[in-house]
Amino acid sequence: MFGRKKKQAISEPTPRLVPQNLGIIMDGNGRWAKKRGLPRQAGHVTGAQVFRKITKYCEKCGVKYLTVYAFSTENWKRPQEEVDAIMNLLRQYLKESLADFQQENIRTRFIGDRSALAEDILKLMREAEETTAHKTGMTLNIALNYGGQQELTAATQALARRVQAGEISPEDIDEEMLGAALYTEDQPPVDLILRPSGEYRLSNFLIWQSAYAEFVFMDVLWPDFTEADLERAFEEYARRNRRFGGV
Ligand code: FPP
Repeated sequence: MFGRKKKQAISEPTPRLVPQNLGIIMDGNGRWAKKRGLPRQAGHVTGAQVFRKITKYCEKCGVKYLTVYAFSTENWKRPQEEVDAIMNLLRQYLKESLADFQQENIRTRFIGDRSALAEDILKLMREAEETTAHKTGMTLNIALNYGGQQELTAATQALARRVQAGEISPEDIDEEMLGAALYTEDQPPVDLILRPSGEYRLSNFLIWQSAYAEFVFMDVLWPDFTEADLERAFEEYARRNRRFGGV
């Protein structure tokens, strides 16, 4: 973990080593709101604005895959009011972004268990995926009702069904096949997991995909997160010596 240095205004990114596949745990919204005497939902509102800004900036920087943790399989435990607020922000974002999507070269996808989501949200999700399917820039995965353990369980069940149907034998199952059965399908492994807010956990996020990821933990709450913070995370990432189990 490294602390926050002074803020600097950043407009256009300069070419340098950026992670091809980045995962962000957008953490600290509740604490940000509490510090200001506001309801937790206010933190999510600002967090959603930061998400939009940082997503666009990642695309400009040359990130090819970005996955953001918007709602976990465990987040249903939160007060109903807060769950509703997050779902409403997602509705709002998807409605507003449908026009925005035309201008951006970002392909939007959703990962997670869709079975518990409201029908109108599912419709907006499908529209977002269809409208952006042909985009060639960055792929944005929004993790919604997502949990790495649930994802691995669902993938295992899907493969077991294929064995039962006689399509494959148990010996055919290898890392590649299991990886392809995940929500992220054929996407490359995650290079960097970024978690602001001072927590040092993976919290069931991309557990398979981040087997050899680097981790950067930052001491800034997500609603305060800026492009300059992202630049500092990329600088730190560029300094890492990745060996993937070799020497
Ligand atoms: C974690 O902070 C944040 C969440 C569980 C929700 C993230 C949601 C958004 C940023 C807004 C909606 C997203 C989209 C894609 C429009 P926390 O609430 O756990 O913060 P705390 O640890 O300080 O309590």
